[in-house]
Amino acid sequence: MMIELDKKQLADVDYRSREAFKTLRTNILFCGDDVKVISMTSATPNEGKSTVTLNLAIALAEMGKKVIYIDADLRKSVVKQKHRIKGVKVGFSHFLSGMKKFDEVVCSTNIPNLHMVLAGPIPPNPSELLGSKYMSVLLKNLREVYDFVIVDAPPVGSVTDATVIAKEADGVILVISQGEISYKFEQKVLSDLKISGCRILGAVLNKVDLSENGYYGNYYGKYYGNYYGKYYGKYYGKYGQEEQQ
Ligand SMILES: Nc1ncnc2c1ncn2[C@@H]1O[C@H](COP(=O)(O)OP(=O)(O)O)[C@@H](O)[C@H]1O
Ligand SMILES: [Mg+2]
Repeated sequence: MMIELDKKQLADVDYRSREAFKTLRTNILFCGDDVKVISMTSATPNEGKSTVTLNLAIALAEMGKKVIYIDADLRKSVVKQKHRIKGVKVGFSHFLSGMKKFDEVVCSTNIPNLHMVLAGPIPPNPSELLGSKYMSVLLKNLREVYDFVIVDAPPVGSVTDATVIAKEADGVILVISQGEISYKFEQKVLSDLKISGCRILGAVLNKVDLSENGYYGNYYGKYYGNYYGKYYGKYYGKYGQEEQQ
């Protein structure tokens, strides 16, 4: 099966955002070669997790890494509609419930080196499926085949699915939409992730309003870009210090 990602959607990412994704990619590469399975999450839906995750997967594939993007946000998946993907009826929920083999749900794409698994129909029991043995065995197997396994995980704030996946991953990246989520809530999410024992690689500050600095003006401020691949050392260093006080 082959997925044609919508060229218009992809081209919509502006120059500054592209550069930010390259920075994010570089930061991930510097995490070391033991970081292969990366779980992307956020506190709440709509912070831009899927947008950032897919663009990160593309940025890694563009440099020749073999990448697979898995849409594991079984409750809310928009990738299929957004990219107007037709003809692919199967997805991750089919695999997790044992209805399909993994080979039957994985798709190649029009981006060289990038494979994708869509979410599939919303199952009645997403938490159970994501916590099943299929999930952990799969991630173990995929790390032998791909350079990077990028998982679009559910948000942490609402359900426990994200922490389940995070445990199986080598690292977690938190996507934070600027100004939408309270500092306190973000701290809670972070501590939930830490308690579950996962390695937090860093955070991406998304939807940053660049118009404030007067450089891009209203057009860019309103309509685009605004992805900051935040350097995790700095970001989490800060969280750490504040926690110790
Ligand atoms: N940096 C950004 N600037 C502008 N719009 C964005 C940005 N990131 C995401 N969006 C938009 O926000 C909405 C939610 O993004 P999505 O990636 O689906 O979020 P999530 O996966 O966290 O639920 C989408 O309409 C998406 O196009
Ligand atoms: Mg999403």
